[in-house]
Formats: sequence, structure tokens, C-alpha cells
Amino acid sequence: MYGTGVTWATVRFATGNGGQRRLEQRAIHPRGMRIALPATREVYVSRLQVEHLYKVFGPRPEEAVQRLEAGADKDELRAGGETAAVIDASFEVAEGEIFVVMGLSGSGKSTLLRTLNGLLPPTAGAVHYDGRDLTELDAPELRHVRAHGISMVFQHFALFPHRTVVDNAAYGLEVQGVPKPEREERATEALRLTGLEGWENSWPDELSGGMQQRVGLARALATDADVLLMDEAFSALDPLIRREMQEQLLELQRTLRKTIVFITHDPHEAVRLGDRIAVMRDGRIVQNGTVEDLLLRPADDYVASFMADVDRSAVLEGHHDEAEVTARA
Ligand SMILES: Nc1ncnc2c1ncn2[C@@H]1O[C@H](COP(=O)(O)OP(=O)(O)OP(=O)(O)O)[C@@H](O)[C@H]1O
Ligand SMILES: [Mg+2]
Repeated sequence: MYGTGVTWATVRFATGNGGQRRLEQRAIHPRGMRIALPATREVYVSRLQVEHLYKVFGPRPEEAVQRLEAGADKDELRAGGETAAVIDASFEVAEGEIFVVMGLSGSGKSTLLRTLNGLLPPTAGAVHYDGRDLTELDAPELRHVRAHGISMVFQHFALFPHRTVVDNAAYGLEVQGVPKPEREERATEALRLTGLEGWENSWPDELSGGMQQRVGLARALATDADVLLMDEAFSALDPLIRREMQEQLLELQRTLRKTIVFITHDPHEAVRLGDRIAVMRDGRIVQNGTVEDLLLRPADDYVASFMADVDRSAVLEGHHDEAEVTARA
């Protein structure tokens, strides 16, 4: 792609600006010598693209989409027995960013997330992963994407009770057919990253709820998936543990640079984690922007009321500091 013998390595990154990355270009000489090139440039690498996506549950979903396109609203469809869970959603997720989807219960967050790895086929519209339309992949190709590309972490992570912690963390690799010594090594490393070093040979019922969630995260990290879909992954945890998990995710993200779509209904969690936040209401994305956009330029009263009890001075200042630190790093 970049010409033989030349590879570009990413060495810098700036968050909080819609996934704009600052790349320093380095040429790798055929004999292994690294030569830094003078040029730097801003690039945007998009990992997921969602285009006019609809998901309707009910007896006549395609017809319901046509009615929505013609201006019908969700309530009119409901009268006919159709549930419009996601309506005309379009957005992109950039490589290395945490993209948060926030909204009240029933607004369509989980449905949207499940279309991103092909678990749910969209009624209309498309999801592109690395430029490929997921709806055009056959079942084995989709399984491959889910095993190697896009991993999911759920709210209540179901661990296998009769497997040790390390075997639970290695489960995704086992499904991939990775040999035992390698999967144990990778799962052990993932457990270390999530703060569970020393617990490898324990049983799930010896772990607290927070630790079990960490095993869920470790399972996703142990696979080489570079996109993580996290559905209310911390919502069942008590506030202190939840805060710890958020900090750990940010810490991991500084080195691992995964592409993360993180679902939450909590605005505090959203502003703490999100490079960008999409706000959903009744199936629609009503605003997609940075924390600053949402706080300073809310699209409507719904977004404003969501953000109402976020401490804006602390958040805006905090974000600014973090952006500066990242830019200097
Ligand atoms: N398999 C399904 N069949 C029918 N309706 C569904 C199905 N899955 C979701 N829905 C409906 O779609 C709408 C959106 O649900 P979804 O689970 O995506 O919301 P959510 O924002 O994740 O909510 P929560 O915060 O409670 O998890 C709801 O009205 C829900 O009842
Ligand atoms: Mg949900």
C-alpha cells in the first residue's frame, strides 16, 4: 500500500478533535534502519461508517422504513405494531477514538451497537467496517470479523463458572483455535492489563462483580480485535468501582489505541470517556459532537437537559488539560 520497503509508523495522537490524528512518518529501511522523515500531516482513519441505518422490529419492517422516510414518526408506526429502534443513523468512528452513544432507556443504543458487528442486520442502510459493507459478508466472513476484528463487552458479563479466570479470559482465543500455550500467554497479559495479575487460577465465584467485568474486558483484549463495542459495560458496578474502571479504560487506551464504541445512559461517564458523543432519542441521533459541543451548543432541550448536571467548568477545563498533555506526549 505504501510502496515496498517503506512503512509508516504512528507515533503521535491528539484526542478530542473528532479523531484527527497527527502522524509522524518514519521510513523503515530494508535493512531495518529507521529514518524519521521531516513531514507530519493530519489524517483521519475511519474504522466504522454507518450510513442512513434503520432497524425496525415488526411484521413489515421495510414498509415501515418507507413510511419513516416519508415523515411518519415512531408513535404512528407503533400503532401498526412496528418498533423503530434505530432511525436514519449516520456517523463515523475514527481509529483510536472512544465514541460514546448516550440516551435514555429504549432509545435504541443496544440495537445500534448490535448492527455494528453484524449481530443484527439493518433493515435499511449500511455499516462499513474497514471499508467493507457488513451486510455483504457471508456467515463465515462475519464470524471472522467478530473473532478477530470487533469484540463486544456486555453489562453483565457471563463467565463460565467451571473455568478458571485465565481460561475465561482465553475463551475468544480458544474459539479462534489458538494453541493453548499461546492463548494462556495472551490471556495472562490481558489480565495483567486489566489489573487482575495473580488471579489467573482463581474461579469466577471468587471474584467481585467489578473483577468479573474486568475478566470480560480482558477476554476482549486478549483477542487481537482492534474495535471494542461496550454496551453499558460498567453500568452494573457501584460508583467507586465504576470510576476505577473508567480510569483504567482511559489508561489502557493511551497505549492500546483501540477503536471503542461505548454505550451509556450516564452523562458523567459519557463526558469522562468520550472523544465524541452521539445522543440518541427515540431511535434518532439528535446530536453527534464533542463534549464541548454538547455542553456549549446543545442541539435541543433534550441534549441540554441530559447535560444539565454535568459540571461544565471542571469538564471543559479537564478536557483541555488532557488534550494538551496528549499533544505534548
Ligand atoms: N428483538 C427485538 N424485538 C422487538 N423490539 C425490540 C427488540 N430489541 C429491541 N427492541 C425495541 O427497540 C427499542 C430500542 O431498544 P434498545 O434495547 O436498543 O434500547 P436501549 O437504548 O439499549 O435501552 P436500555 O438503555 O434500556 O438498554 C425498544 O423499544 C425495544 O423494546
Ligand atoms: Mg441497551
